Amino acid sequence: MVGEGLVRVEAPLKVTGRARYFNDVDVPGMVHAVVVRSTVAAGRVTRLDTARAGAASGVLAVLTHRNMPRLAAGPMTIIGASPPVPLRDDRVLYHGQPVAVVVAASAEEARYAASLVEVGYAPAEPVLHVDDPRAELIDDPWGLDHVRGDVEAGFAAADVVVEGRFTTADNTNNPLGPMGTVAYWNGEALTVHDATQWPHNVRSTLAAVFGVPEAGVRVLAPFVGGGFGAGLRVWPHVLLAAAAAREVGLPVKLVLSRPEMFSSVGHRPDSVQWIRIGARGDGVLTAISHESVSSLGMEDEDFEPVSRCSAGAYACGSVRTRDRQARLHIPGPGSMRAPAEAQGNWALESAIDELAYGLGMDPLEVRLRNLAEVDPVSGMPWSSNALRECYAEGARRFGWARRSPEPGSMRDGRRFVGYGLAAVSYPGYQVACQARASVGRDGSAFVRSAATDIGTGTYTVMTQLAAGLLGLDPGRVRFDLGDSDMPYAPQAGGSGLTGALGNAVHSACLRLVQEFCDLVRDDPASPLCGAGPGEVAVGGGRIHLVADPSRGEAFGEILVRHDLVELAADGRSVPPDSGELGMACAGAFGAKFVEVRVDPELGLLRVVRVVSVIDGGRILNAETAASQIVGGTVGGIGQAMLEETVTDPTGRIANATFGDYLIAVNADVPDVDVVFVGGPDRATATGTKGVGEVGLVGIAAAVGNAVFHATGRRIRDLPITIDRLL
Ligand code: MOS
Repeated sequence: MVGEGLVRVEAPLKVTGRARYFNDVDVPGMVHAVVVRSTVAAGRVTRLDTARAGAASGVLAVLTHRNMPRLAAGPMTIIGASPPVPLRDDRVLYHGQPVAVVVAASAEEARYAASLVEVGYAPAEPVLHVDDPRAELIDDPWGLDHVRGDVEAGFAAADVVVEGRFTTADNTNNPLGPMGTVAYWNGEALTVHDATQWPHNVRSTLAAVFGVPEAGVRVLAPFVGGGFGAGLRVWPHVLLAAAAAREVGLPVKLVLSRPEMFSSVGHRPDSVQWIRIGARGDGVLTAISHESVSSLGMEDEDFEPVSRCSAGAYACGSVRTRDRQARLHIPGPGSMRAPAEAQGNWALESAIDELAYGLGMDPLEVRLRNLAEVDPVSGMPWSSNALRECYAEGARRFGWARRSPEPGSMRDGRRFVGYGLAAVSYPGYQVACQARASVGRDGSAFVRSAATDIGTGTYTVMTQLAAGLLGLDPGRVRFDLGDSDMPYAPQAGGSGLTGALGNAVHSACLRLVQEFCDLVRDDPASPLCGAGPGEVAVGGGRIHLVADPSRGEAFGEILVRHDLVELAADGRSVPPDSGELGMACAGAFGAKFVEVRVDPELGLLRVVRVVSVIDGGRILNAETAASQIVGGTVGGIGQAMLEETVTDPTGRIANATFGDYLIAVNADVPDVDVVFVGGPDRATATGTKGVGEVGLVGIAAAVGNAVFHATGRRIRDLPITIDRLL
């Protein structure tokens, strides 16, 4: 790969402050909006007095459900619909729900005036917990519940059966950059600068909600201060900013505060899971049953098939998975890095560990014995799968053989030492994407697509890819993204962007080279005249004969001679049908080895070592890919030990600050050893597989398994905090 170690191409813009995030946008006449949020979790708004707020200094408008223009619902997308539009009526469905929005000349005036809006409620008793019997349960929300084989017969044939109830806590996405929107109208045309992971989704949603033509809506997100899933959907604040801008006829900026982030942009929902696994004495699995209930907002949706991971992880003939969602008076959950997998893998991989102890076998051996050589769900061969190498390489680097199996048998002074292992088979899929590539007379290339780079390295790896395909130095290629006027791109999420966008860029660049070849083939003035397909190649900014690289010419020369300013080509990626492919589109695989120390007197848990071995297909850039895995590991350590969004009995999130909601900081994270194994995947043109989420999954279970090895205590509830360890 060209420029495998290329430093992030946008780094100079970021470190010099020239990278413009939405919050850096300052348009003439811009005013500011602040949301007033409900202080009860359920009931009705009975009184709304906006007189004092409306009369406060600088205030231009106060919108409530009484004067809010009627908005239509947003469209359906491949990740579901966006949340219901705000300020529809007097009903309150969660604590923190918008009940008014105040627009004022300055952010300070807006915030002060927001505090003057008087709201009275007729509160109702909120339903707040996933196991509350009053909660409405939705069965099999996505039709993904899975049954194969005869599960009861499988358990009857088992020599060892383990079962347990596992739980995971609510976790909140905390991108470093708080999210928000700058919106301005020009007649029916709307421009929005937004912290989104998916500009086209924002565009189509705004067009539908406001009933304006999509072509007139432009969404800009050239830089986004992190996402983790929080920027996949179009949350109420985006619509409120656009509605406020139309109301006052001025550009409006709306920035969420950190506490608002906890109730405004989704979160990983908590879950209760029941898992049962049976195996013969030789370790071969005979049956898996995995059920879950996750929390869900009252009128929202969220794709969170928690137990689904148990269908595809192991070669087991009899498997049953079942997911339900409980409607609660909570801010709507949404995707948070590795949605569903992060929760489900915790139960599955903890239970596999428990099973290994029941069998008296090494947990690594149990996993190897049940390795899925083909996709267990479709029965088709994998497009690639190097999980076996992940195990082997991880065990070697980690020194797994040094582990003495007995819990509590390894010590470091008075602290117990634990070694834990967990595996992950991350689902793979492909989505549609488009890109456009052009080369100008100066021989430099411009490639673009309406994708985003949420810190993942999209700018960099697409620059490399285009450079390689066009035979240019990466310094001669500019890749641009983050503008909905560019060709369609899917969300930067679900570990799917690099595959889809890579395919589209691949197709655009190959077509562009073809266009140049078509120009010179019949051109007597070209040294390449008459060269057939397969006889020419690109390199060094030229097209040349394969047989004689000295015979060729630069892109620019061809353009000049043909009186062209540039040549451009469009490329698209159409998701292949797995039936047509004849193989199962594999996602990434990984093996996570974790060493912990547990202080038996203080209950202090420390992760001291992580080896994360990943099969991510072809790795385009070792640095940005490894950075994804390290970042995922940090998120995994947070999920394992620290992160828990706490809701008090009134439905208020009680720890909505960085002081109270604990995320892993440097002192919690050891050096992380990241290794990639495996080779190019067969299902994508570029051979890549997504690595955005696989780094997180499995860390929690590996930590939990290491805690069991250290202490003999099987913790089934996340996070593993001191009170649970003592
Ligand atoms: Mo992610 S939760 O796919 O942004």
